[in-house]
Amino acid sequence: MKVTINAAMTADGKIATKIRDSKISSDQDLKRVHKLRSSVDAIIVGISTVLADDPRLTVRLTKNKGKDPVRIIVDSTGRIPLNSRILQTASKIKTIVAVTKRASNSIIQKIKKSGAMVIIVGTYSVDLKKLFSILEKKGYKKILVEGGGELNWSLLHLGIVNEVIITVAPMIVGGRNATTLVEGGGYDKISEGIKMELRNILRQNNNELVLHYKLLQKNIIH
Ligand SMILES: NC(=O)c1ccc[n+]([C@@H]2O[C@H](COP(=O)([O-])OP(=O)(O)OC[C@H]3O[C@@H](n4cnc5c(N)ncnc54)[C@H](OP(=O)(O)O)[C@@H]3O)[C@@H](O)[C@H]2O)c1
Repeated sequence: MKVTINAAMTADGKIATKIRDSKISSDQDLKRVHKLRSSVDAIIVGISTVLADDPRLTVRLTKNKGKDPVRIIVDSTGRIPLNSRILQTASKIKTIVAVTKRASNSIIQKIKKSGAMVIIVGTYSVDLKKLFSILEKKGYKKILVEGGGELNWSLLHLGIVNEVIITVAPMIVGGRNATTLVEGGGYDKISEGIKMELRNILRQNNNELVLHYKLLQKNIIH
């Protein structure tokens, strides 16, 4: 299984502003992301990203569209709104909501009614190791992680990620409460940090850089 994080951040490492504005990518970069989406089996996001952005997570801005990837939402208690774009299209595009035992049966039934599949994994937060082994058994070979910072941390920390693609926009937005590329608990020491190798640099029209890293640590899924 190949797991890729893709995110757009400002030069000061923010993936959204303090009021959760996250429109960082240029049109050129969005086209690159949609092409990347068209090459994967599934896209996974955290519930806070759905609540902030109401994304569709479909393939739109590319010619060779093909089939939309399966959409997976990591959502312990089933907070995903029934009127979100994802659930509104769940009868047409395969959608999985991964919840925990904290999600009530009535919420699970409502989510299922939208057409989405519900997987119960974990007690407090979604057990990502278990979820990814279920996804592997389902035959999903390429998974694209589209944030946010909390989900990025959990997956990186568990050693589930193989590569990280970061678009760096030439701007600074600051804000101590603005979401960064990787949130979570973090490491105490730089030496504990997750080591990566820079594989490619792409410079786009408007001085955006796309940095393509491969993780040097072993991937537990293999
Ligand atoms: N620029 C970009 O490329 C980009 C991409 C994506 C998102 N964003 C921005 O990022 C922001 C959201 O990021 P975020 O860091 O706040 O949240 P997030 O990663 O989208 O979602 C985190 C939430 O997922 C749920 N969760 C359940 N199990 C989890 C687990 N094992 N590990 C991690 N999360 C788990 C938790 O909520 P529950 O306890 O309720 O389940 C947790 O609070 C938004 O403003 C969005 O616009 C930007």
